[in-house]
Amino acid sequence: MQLDRLGLTDLRAFRSAELTFAPGFNLITGANGAGKTSVLEAVHLIAYARSFRGRVRDGLVRHEADALEVFLSWTQRESETRRAGLRHSGTEWSGRLDRQPVSTLTELCSAFAAVCFEPGSHLLVSGAAEERRRFLDWSLFHVEPDYLDGWRRYARALKQRNRLLKSRPEPRALDPWDRELAVTGEMITRQRQLYLDTLRPYLDALARDFLPELGVAELEFRPGWRREQMPLSDALVMAREGDVAQGFGSVGPHRADWRLRFERLPGRAAPSRGQEKLIALVYVLAQAEAFVEEQGEWPVVLLDDLASELDVDHQARVLTRVSATPAQVLLTATEPPPVLATMPSDLIRARFHVEQGQVLVRDPGPG
Ligand SMILES: Nc1ncnc2c1ncn2[C@@H]1O[C@H](COP(=O)(O)OP(=O)(O)OP(=O)(O)O)[C@@H](O)[C@H]1O
Ligand SMILES: [Mg+2]
Repeated sequence: MQLDRLGLTDLRAFRSAELTFAPGFNLITGANGAGKTSVLEAVHLIAYARSFRGRVRDGLVRHEADALEVFLSWTQRESETRRAGLRHSGTEWSGRLDRQPVSTLTELCSAFAAVCFEPGSHLLVSGAAEERRRFLDWSLFHVEPDYLDGWRRYARALKQRNRLLKSRPEPRALDPWDRELAVTGEMITRQRQLYLDTLRPYLDALARDFLPELGVAELEFRPGWRREQMPLSDALVMAREGDVAQGFGSVGPHRADWRLRFERLPGRAAPSRGQEKLIALVYVLAQAEAFVEEQGEWPVVLLDDLASELDVDHQARVLTRVSATPAQVLLTATEPPPVLATMPSDLIRARFHVEQGQVLVRDPGPG
């Protein structure tokens, strides 16, 4: 996918801005607080229905404005032009895809794909399991057409079962919800397992490239119940008493988790913050590479502040690896990163400078 144009109105400090991107690497520079990350948030909003810095209502709409607007046009499969637009007030929204109104934000997310590495990405490694489940779910929404339907049915049944649990029900009253959870939960889990199997060789190769010092990486998947011992239907029945006492469901794919476990980070040894960032980067790039295998083209790659996140050697490895692919990259930095001096001089195909809510276009080139 090649993002051609991005328009944004009333998003954080921007009143209105428009950017026309080039294929390949696009560099966005600007001082601290100038609005570089905000540009990436706008793109992320269409791809994920949320910013990587939280929901729209958490400050994405410009102070004093009622709603933000984002417009994207992109080219896919080399020739097909597509358009998406979103107006969002934090509570209400309306969206368009190829000039037609959409009824769910998911329609935008499944049309336009981007992956993102940013200063908060280490939470994919050290943060709550919810981050890692969301990572799996995003990929599966794109790859498996029936995943979203199963996921929604599961979420609905879980919510209703949780509501019922709070009224201390007769155990039999849980039967219909447990049946629905067992069917949809097994399906979600099977698809997550298959997706992780697809991801494994990519994770492996990237971990060897970025973190050779940590040794062999093994992928660990916890489905959310003791799946090797019993089906989810049995686990739900066994958990009933505890669930009634706690007032919420304790087993199932809403409790799933996964991670790479490194040979040289045994037991409770924690990775350093920098290693967490590199592991997160391994996850994100593996996700992009697996996406290419399934969809035949690259998602747009968003790299926020790479130079302040990684040492020079790792920056060079990332840029080298990504520049060997047809991926389009939006890279932000306060200054043109010195590592660019070690890269081919035509790597950066377009340059933008952000200043006081304005975007200025600069000649491409590393200087
Ligand atoms: N809702 C809002 N309304 C108006 N201005 C906002 C709003 N939210 C954030 N801002 C301002 O927008 C700017 C945020 O910009 P952003 O985080 O994109 O900057 P940046 O260029 O990525 O900075 P850094 O180099 O520090 O990462 C800040 O100046 C902030 O004060
Ligand atoms: Mg920033």
